[in-house]
Amino acid sequence: MKIAHFSRIGFILAAAGSAVGLGNIWKFPYIAGEYGGGAFVLVYLVTVLSIGFSIMIAEMLIGYLGRMDAAKSFEKLAPSNKSRWRLAGMMGIWAGLLIMTFYSVVIGWILHYIVVAFSALPSSVAEAESAFNTLLHDSIITQIFYHTLSFILISAILVRGIKAGIEKLNLILMPMLFIIVGGMFLYALTLDGFSQAWDFMFSPDWSKLNSEAFVIAVGHAFFTLSLGMGAILTYSASLPKEVNLVKSSLYVVALDTIIALLAGLMLFTFLYQYGAEPSKGPGLVFISLPAVFYEMGTLGNAFAILFFFALAFAGLTSAVSLTEPMVQYLIDKFDMTRFKAVVVAGGFFYLVGIIALLSNTTAYGDMLHFGSKNFFDWVDYITAAFMLPFGGLLMAIFIGYKIPKKQVFAAVGKSLGRAFSVWYFILRYIAPVALIIVMLNLLGVITF
Ligand code: TRP
Repeated sequence: MKIAHFSRIGFILAAAGSAVGLGNIWKFPYIAGEYGGGAFVLVYLVTVLSIGFSIMIAEMLIGYLGRMDAAKSFEKLAPSNKSRWRLAGMMGIWAGLLIMTFYSVVIGWILHYIVVAFSALPSSVAEAESAFNTLLHDSIITQIFYHTLSFILISAILVRGIKAGIEKLNLILMPMLFIIVGGMFLYALTLDGFSQAWDFMFSPDWSKLNSEAFVIAVGHAFFTLSLGMGAILTYSASLPKEVNLVKSSLYVVALDTIIALLAGLMLFTFLYQYGAEPSKGPGLVFISLPAVFYEMGTLGNAFAILFFFALAFAGLTSAVSLTEPMVQYLIDKFDMTRFKAVVVAGGFFYLVGIIALLSNTTAYGDMLHFGSKNFFDWVDYITAAFMLPFGGLLMAIFIGYKIPKKQVFAAVGKSLGRAFSVWYFILRYIAPVALIIVMLNLLGVITF
């Protein structure tokens, strides 16, 4: 039973808050850096605007029509095989919590860096690198402390519920995030490094686009839009009836893409301007950037504070959306109070998050290393490269084949207008084929 509804603007900001996250400001720049920029960015952009946008509408539709938690919505709407479709929802709910295990740890690093920005920035890249490595590999207590803080912040918002918690958080933090990123971008525009950053992001070097880069780009398109696991679905279940889903999707996709591009351009401008490297991996915003901020003097110090606040805002608004599907599920399924549901869902990512965190440390890293990756990287990889695209595939099939076309048309036909048939075609053919290719590649069945 849903009592609280989002307002229209509240929903758009909450969905955008879910989408705009660490994926945009932390992950996107460093994977773009690792996979060589331009060509990778192009694959990401094309996927976001075609398949991503289409599945965003489909996922919103499932929540909007189902009005229940992710598992129940699938179950209720499926014309047959109800319990199997329920599993699609369950997989998503778990994917969210799995993502949270490392997401909360990274939010913890960011909270730590807010403190660093207020006290003393590292005075060189070498110093910044050793500081970050020390945090990651040796400072177990510090990391657990900040991971705990992150867990407390996220839980405190979630227990307040949709209206007073999630909506309010987004109404406050999202505008601040836009102002900070927008303002820093405008400053970056005035620097010489901007043209190099632009080239790096937008001139494709196709030789750098191997199949791994392709899979990561498609996976990231899902990750950055919060697609394929029921976060958007769960929010949409609390929508007032008269909302235009197509327009809402468009706003969310546009805001997410704009923030990713602005953040990327801004970051690379700063890096080029001060001769730092774009290919630092996950440490990019924690190593190269703080050193660059130091070089910039007083202004840099202010930027560092603002930047890490913005990053924390982006992370928190996404984190609540990753956890809320499980919270909603526990409330619906087991009649739990919201408080208890938050404790259970939060407790899971908190405890498993400690394992993720330990897997990066020197002391426990070997124990938590399996094959080519440690626990932390495996969770990131399996969720983004497999679970989300798979969830997206199921959603495309669900709306494209399972729900009667008439019902789908009744919900979004008018707002899509003539684009309806294009959208429907993408859901039925393009998205499934593309996603199956990605997954077969991932499983090593085909290579390209
Ligand atoms: N989109 C967020 C980011 O870019 C992460 C996120 C939030 C997410 N909710 C999600 C990813 C649901 C996948 C599914 O950081």
